[in-house]
This record gives sequence, structure tokens and C-alpha cells, in this order.
Amino acid sequence: MAEPGRMHSKGAGAPDYDDPKFWDFRFATGRDVGEWLNSGEALLDVVLSDLEGRPDFEGAPRVLHLGPGVSKLGMKLRDACTERDWMGSGIVNVDFSAEAVRIGQKAERQKAPDQAMHWLCADLLSWDHVSTLAPFAPFDVILDKSTSDAIATFSDRNISHADDLSSICPTVQKFLPSVPAVTLSPVEALALHLAPLTHKNTTWIALSYSTLRFDNLPFLAEYWSLRSRTPLKAPSGDVSSAAYTPEVFHWVYILDRK
Ligand SMILES: C[S@@+](CC[C@H](N)C(=O)[O-])C[C@H]1O[C@@H](n2cnc3c(N)ncnc32)[C@H](O)[C@@H]1O
Repeated sequence: MAEPGRMHSKGAGAPDYDDPKFWDFRFATGRDVGEWLNSGEALLDVVLSDLEGRPDFEGAPRVLHLGPGVSKLGMKLRDACTERDWMGSGIVNVDFSAEAVRIGQKAERQKAPDQAMHWLCADLLSWDHVSTLAPFAPFDVILDKSTSDAIATFSDRNISHADDLSSICPTVQKFLPSVPAVTLSPVEALALHLAPLTHKNTTWIALSYSTLRFDNLPFLAEYWSLRSRTPLKAPSGDVSSAAYTPEVFHWVYILDRK
């Protein structure tokens, strides 16, 4: 059973992706792949052109990076900001792995205050945690490289009037008066938690292995609309030239906050 305020628990047979200690161990021992799916250059291009295209943009981007782990993507984004004379200090990396946050914070120590990214340890499925990000909001861009993929493996959560509503996000509570309970998939819970931290011009830019990552999620669709889903050829590993190997694609999603 999920602890109060935490919107998930482990699904039967699923990997331990919902357990921060699982990730701590991988990051502390160097057993993580380092970059999930790919290095994220394509995502970086989408984020930079989104920021550059904002009519009111003043060189201080506010980006919430979901579950960065030990990926270098946040640093590449910050370096791209520095090259453009933008501030990097509006980039907020949030991971529930204390080890990922420790490594990330250590790497930022030498940076000038206007360039140093924030690193915060928080569970994106706990409203008690997510609400602490309010001082950094509203975000222009949500950056998500395969973190919603990991979160999609968590269990659904039922929320009813019997729950402690002070730990439930207002965007979730909104649905309760009309029904006795709501069942949220974990990606819907994430999307509802992101809603109070964002505004109408926020873009959620995600890379996923799934063709269906944001499909058929009615609670998500209350706040986010899918603008595009673009295939990106996945990097190939060592393959035998004798065998036919089908092409594998990842998907770049752009969602707009309604
Ligand atoms: C699949 S890995 C992706 C890591 C990184 N974005 C990359 O592309 O290499 C998922 C990351 O999300 C983090 N994570 C998973 N569930 C989370 C949650 N509920 N709240 C915060 N972080 C979470 C994990 O600790 C891990 O760093």
C-alpha cells in the first residue's frame, strides 16, 4: 500500500522503478546505463527552439527536468544557456533518488550562482513533495527523458473522500465532488501534479520508447494536449550484418498545457 501522500506503490511483477533505493544503488555503483534511450540531443534542440520562440522570453528560462538521474542532459541544457547568455539557475532538476541529487549538486558547486542549476530530492507522485517546487514555478518547459516511462510502470492509485485531502493535489481533488473515488494511472497523477506548477504557455517535452505514452489518459487530457509525436531512430547497438534488424524508434512528444 502506498504511504499517505505518495501516489503509487509497486505493481506486481514490475521492476523496482518505484523505489528510490533501487535507483540510489544503480547510481552509487555506476550500474545505471547513464543515459536512458539516447543522449537526448534531439530533445535539447526542441527545448532550445521552444524557449527561443517565446515572445516574452528574457533569457531566464524556467525548466523543470523530471527524473534526471545521472544523465548529462541538464548540464548540456545549462551549457547551451550559457552560450546564449541566458541564466541557467532557472533549471530545476528533480529526482527522488537522493544519490542522483547528491551527484548533481556536487557537479554544480563550482558554477556561478546565475548558472548553477538547482537539484532537489522529491517524489513527483507525492503532492507533499511536488508542492515544495512552487517557489521555482511557473515553468516554461517540462523536460522528461524516459522518466514518464519509468513512472508508467507504477501502480494506479485510487483516491476517495476518505483520504487525507491535505496531501492530495488540488487538481486531483477537483474531480472528487462529482464521483465517490477516482482511479489515476501514474502518468495521469504526474500530469495533474505538474498542472499547478505550469501555465497556459508551458510545454512538456518528452522522449519515450512508447508510441502510446500519453494516449487514452482522460485526466491528463484535462490539462495537457498532445501537439506532436515525432519518431526518432533509436541508436543501434552491435548488430550482425548478416541478420535483418528492424529499425527501432523512440518518440519525441510535445504537449501543451491547456
Ligand atoms: C528511466 S530513468 C531516466 C533517467 C534520465 N532521465 C535519463 O534519461 O537517463 C528514470 C529516473 O526517474 C527517477 N524517478 C522515477 N520515479 C520518480 C518519481 N516518482 N519521482 C522522482 N523521480 C523519479 C529515477 O530516480 C531515475 O533517475
